[in-house]
Amino acid sequence: MTPEQMDIPDEELLKIARDAMEKAYAPYSRFYVGAAIATDTGHIFTGTNVENASYGLTVCAERVAVFKAVSEGHNRIVRAAIVSSSGEITYPCGACRQVFNEFSADMSVVMGDKNGKVEKTPLAELLPNSFGPESLT
Ligand code: THU
Repeated sequence: MTPEQMDIPDEELLKIARDAMEKAYAPYSRFYVGAAIATDTGHIFTGTNVENASYGLTVCAERVAVFKAVSEGHNRIVRAAIVSSSGEITYPCGACRQVFNEFSADMSVVMGDKNGKVEKTPLAELLPNSFGPESLT
């Protein structure tokens, strides 16, 4: 069984991301983001953006989810789902793409809009010619 098969359907992962978005702390931008990541261990971790009055210390939903997973010992991400309050497809920012890449260059990213449109893309397409752990060996 591949890790991908072990995981729940994309729609369900998006629903978990949507539920997580409710807890987003985004009083400054009012742009609420929810993320859910599935790991090869079959676990799911959620994240929301967490803003800060100093603005620059804001952390994106995707990185919150990744850091939760890694800090609990789940280092291989199979898939990430991302939704935002804009209702449109929201792509992960460059910093989050790089952080994803650290923990699974072959993962896929699923994004959903408010009308049920889903886009799924390999991380390698969002971050071609990446610099990662293997670059240092
Ligand atoms: N944000 C995310 O959480 N993830 C993204 O992929 C794009 C941007 C957050 C950061 C900030 O709190 C707000 O969205 C506006 O940029």
